[in-house]
Amino acid sequence: MSPNPLPQVVVRAATPEDAPVCGQICYDAFSAISGAHGFPCDFPAPEAAIGVLSMMFSNPGFYCVVAEAEGRIVGSNCLDERSAISGVGPITIDPGVQNLGIGRMLMQAVMDRAMGQGAAGIRLVQSAFHNRSLSLYAGLGFDVRAPLSCMQGRIPERNVPGCTVRPAQLADVDACDTLSRQVHGFSRKVELTEAIQQGTASVVERGGRITGYATVLAFFGHATAETNLDLEALIASVDSFGGPGILVPSQNSGLFRWCLAKGLRVVQPLTLMSVGLYNEPAGAWLPSILF
Ligand SMILES: CC(C)(COP(=O)(O)OP(=O)(O)OC[C@H]1O[C@@H](n2cnc3c(N)ncnc32)[C@H](O)[C@@H]1OP(=O)(O)O)[C@@H](O)C(=O)NCCC(=O)NCCS
Repeated sequence: MSPNPLPQVVVRAATPEDAPVCGQICYDAFSAISGAHGFPCDFPAPEAAIGVLSMMFSNPGFYCVVAEAEGRIVGSNCLDERSAISGVGPITIDPGVQNLGIGRMLMQAVMDRAMGQGAAGIRLVQSAFHNRSLSLYAGLGFDVRAPLSCMQGRIPERNVPGCTVRPAQLADVDACDTLSRQVHGFSRKVELTEAIQQGTASVVERGGRITGYATVLAFFGHATAETNLDLEALIASVDSFGGPGILVPSQNSGLFRWCLAKGLRVVQPLTLMSVGLYNEPAGAWLPSILF
């Protein structure tokens, strides 16, 4: 365990007013680590990170914390509490004070919160090239679950034969939720409902029934389906993917090779990690950058 050379560091709940400072730190931290390894930053500009953190800091479904040293914010972390499984991230520390134990404090804060709230498990997705975050999470008890490939590009066709993709409606939530429970063993109903209200969610129908859904085809969205065919229909239905790309489980060889054959390119490798309950998914899925 790192000695804490900054005993004056305090962790407190984040407020929406903290988003501009935390978003700048988030951008600086990701651009530094990604740039050092020759990868593009997860955020195109500080404003994008500020926008994401503003949303998280003001959504009651998220528990967010900041670390302050001598009254100055030096990092933040978020916990998605919208399902029985909590999702961590983004966690970022000011590049000037990294590797001093502050990240561990912010991880411990959200893990304590998740346990206190009775979460069945906690998950996160980390950049596979980042030695420090991998080591930090493993040391805190997270197990490596799945290698992921962030993929971007444009599939030539918008349709997959036999499948129909359409915008999801609130009336679809129960069918999608049944699917989520079948594939993952838990409900992601709140997240899906929010996505439907924001107009980003879609469902795929095959044989007259819903066989898959996506909250959004993007870095920040997840998708769940009965089969790879259903996921392929969802992936093909959009012109491009939001943010750096979609997260394809690299061990789903059939889907991964289909994406490659359709011209998608790998942007960066990532790793899904978990502590607590983890059911091996019984179906096809794309995690979000949270889980
Ligand atoms: C990842 C990040 C949040 C960690 O916060 P931090 O304050 O720098 O990290 P900490 O000092 O609390 O912890 C680092 C741990 O990794 C260990 N570590 C660092 N490099 C290591 C390596 N190469 N091998 C093994 N362990 C290593 C340290 O010893 C420490 O372990 P300990 O707590 O058991 O002593 C921070 O570095 C950051 O913002 N990075 C850029 C953005 C990012 O990648 N965020 C995570 C997205 S998944």
